[in-house]
Parts: sequence; C-alpha cells; structure tokens
Amino acid sequence: MSGEITNNIDKLSIDKKPDFFDDDGDVVDPWTVTSKSDTGVDYDKLMKKFGSSKIDVELLTRFEKVTGKPVHHLLKRGIFFSHRDMNLILNNYEAGKPFYLYTGRGPSSSSMHLGHLIPFQLCKWLQEVFDVPLVIQLTDDEKTLWKDITIEEAHKMAYENAKDIIAIGFDIKKTFIFSDLDYIGQCPEFYRNMIRIQKCVTFNQVKGIFGFDDSSVIGKIAFPAVQATPALSTSFPAIFNGQKIQCLIPCAIDQDPYFRMTRDVCPRIGFQKPALLHSKFFPALQGAQTKMSASEANSTIFCCDTPKQLKNKINKHAFSGGQATVEDHRRIGGNCDVDIAYQYLRFFLEDDDKLEQIRKDYSSGALLTGELKKILIDVLTPIIVQHQERRSKVTDDILKQFMTPRKL
Ligand code: TRP
Repeated sequence: MSGEITNNIDKLSIDKKPDFFDDDGDVVDPWTVTSKSDTGVDYDKLMKKFGSSKIDVELLTRFEKVTGKPVHHLLKRGIFFSHRDMNLILNNYEAGKPFYLYTGRGPSSSSMHLGHLIPFQLCKWLQEVFDVPLVIQLTDDEKTLWKDITIEEAHKMAYENAKDIIAIGFDIKKTFIFSDLDYIGQCPEFYRNMIRIQKCVTFNQVKGIFGFDDSSVIGKIAFPAVQATPALSTSFPAIFNGQKIQCLIPCAIDQDPYFRMTRDVCPRIGFQKPALLHSKFFPALQGAQTKMSASEANSTIFCCDTPKQLKNKINKHAFSGGQATVEDHRRIGGNCDVDIAYQYLRFFLEDDDKLEQIRKDYSSGALLTGELKKILIDVLTPIIVQHQERRSKVTDDILKQFMTPRKL
C-alpha cells in the first residue's frame, strides 16, 4: 500500500505537458493510440505519467472479499490494470453507501467491434455483483464534431450501437442508455451541470489536456464538459432524484484525460470525484502497435461479421508470433507476447487452465500458428453468432425502454 497514497493524487491536468507529446514513441490520447513496440504501449510508464494506481493483488483480494465472488477474468488478467479511488468505492460499498456506473461509446460506425465489448463486459459484471445502476453515454455529438459525419448520421449510429450494447445483456431495470443529441435538450439538470463544469475550465487547460489549438472548432473545445457531466449523479434526476452519489467509470485508458479534468472540477462544484477502472487496449489484428479501430475494416473484427469473415480475417491478418517454418517453430517456439491470436484469447477465453495450456504449448512449439488461430476462431465464432442472435431480438420497444429516463 505504500506507493498508494502518492499515486492517488492525480497529476494535475492544469499546466501539464499535453499527453500527445511523448518521448518514448508511445502516443496515447482520446484520438490516437500508437506504439513503436510490437508488444504495444508501455502501461507502467503510462500509469506513472497519468498518475493513476495499479490494480494490484491486494485490491483484487479486497474485491473478492467485498463481493464474495471471484473477480472477473479481465481484472484477474490485468486487462483492467489501473484505477483511481477504487479502494474508496469498496470502502463506501462496505459501509452501505451506494455508487453507480458510468461508461460510454462514441458512435462512429454502425457496428461495434470486439474491442468495444471489453469495457461493457466488465460493466455488466460489476452491475451484477454490486447490483448498481449503469448509465451509458452515446456521444453522437462528439462524433459529428470530430468526423466527417452529419448530426443525423451520428444520431442514427448511436441507436444502432445501442442495440449492440443491449445485446451484451444489461439488466433493463438497471441500465439507462442515452444519446447526447437527445438527452441534453430534454434534461435541464444535465445542461446546468455542463455549464457548471464549463465555468471551471479554461481554454488554456483544455489545450494542455487535449491539444486543441486556435483552429479547433469551438464545439470540440466545449465537448470535454459533455463527457464529464454524466459523472455527476444529479445529471440524471429521473434515476437518482437529485441525490449525490459517487460514480465509478470503467473505460479504456485513452479516456483518462477527460476524467482527470472531471476529477479536477468535481470538488470545486460540490461533487465527489468519480473513481475509475482503466483497461488496456484491444490490439489491431495486425499487431499491438495500435488498437482495433472501426475505421480500418481489415484490422477489425466487427460484431456483425459472418463466421466466414471472422475466420478469413484471423487467418489472413492476425499477426503471428510464430516462426517462419514449422521446423523453426517446433525448435524455438512461438512468442505469445506479440501473437495476436493468443492475445485475443486472453480477452475472450475465460477458462484459465485452458489458456495456460495454450500458452505453454505455443511457447514450446508444440502448438503451431494455424492451430492456435483455429482455437481462437472456435472461441470467437459462438461469441459473435450469439451476440447477433441477441441483437436481432432487440425490438424498437426494448430499445425505447432502455433509452427512456426512469427510476432504476
Ligand atoms: N469518448 C468516448 C468514445 O469516443 C465515448 C465516451 C463517452 C466514454 N463517455 C464515456 C467512454 C465514458 C468511456 C467512459 O468512444
């Protein structure tokens, strides 16, 4: 616990070098994730730079003690690896104080991909074990501002994405999904909190945190307040009835700049800072130098891909840590650290013993690249097929229920 106290003090977002200037070749900000290393971003360094804390064995043990359940494999395997104030959430929960979950998605494509499922899967588990409400922000406004997408297109994609999110299996009694373009105009409390936040942050500060410059459109400059606002429970009067409740945000670590800003502002306007759980990135098929991206069809497995597309993409594009010839592979063995098929299994194969056996066999050379890819295809095929089945059962009425502000 000794490093914990200093770690828990956020690096001030103010007067800080922008995150996108880096000296080690890793670039991590809400718009870009790239690394020069074939094992991907150096997460220990990133944690130091952002000033967050490691999710260590001690925290995981507390998780299990408080919930009485084994921790989710995404936590146990260090895919969710960093946090802010999670210990406070657990203390409060033990003391009977409630919290709620907040996460989101920028709808930039009509289908979500495998990487998008990761934070939502953890949210689903957290929602179940803690029995807490979850709010999901669809930032159609953000995508219109950043991409060459009209308001109407972004709004439509938000609704398409909502169906994918519902298909993950969230509890309809405990989940509110909203499009910014719809909800902000409907809810005065949300808009007021947005203005309270906007009043606390200068152009200089967002320039420092997000790298905006004089030619950035003003919608971008104001947007960080939109992403911050759901961390204030009073932005959802229908759910929380004006009560101030602490918020826990599971997200990929590239979203942290928004929430450093949020944590900076919250105490100044009478709110508790939101707590955070940060995940690593889901790598692109071509390798861990970058994350999976919806705008790169070849580097991406979409939730709507057919089993055939899935198979072809993995066989053709998944970067292999194997050797050039079978003889070399049998002799030297494969490198799991850079092998994308193995890395994807860490995200999606829940059975620890099986995963460990695969790691041993691939590393020793007993398992060949083609065989490893086949294992991955066999694991992922039912996942996407079942996802598509559940998605096809999301009727307009179910969608409407999830997206109606209501008591949860
Ligand atoms: N900006 C995120 C994206 O582009 C969407 C988002 C909004 C989000 N609120 C969030 C993500 C909270 C995680 C947590 O995808």
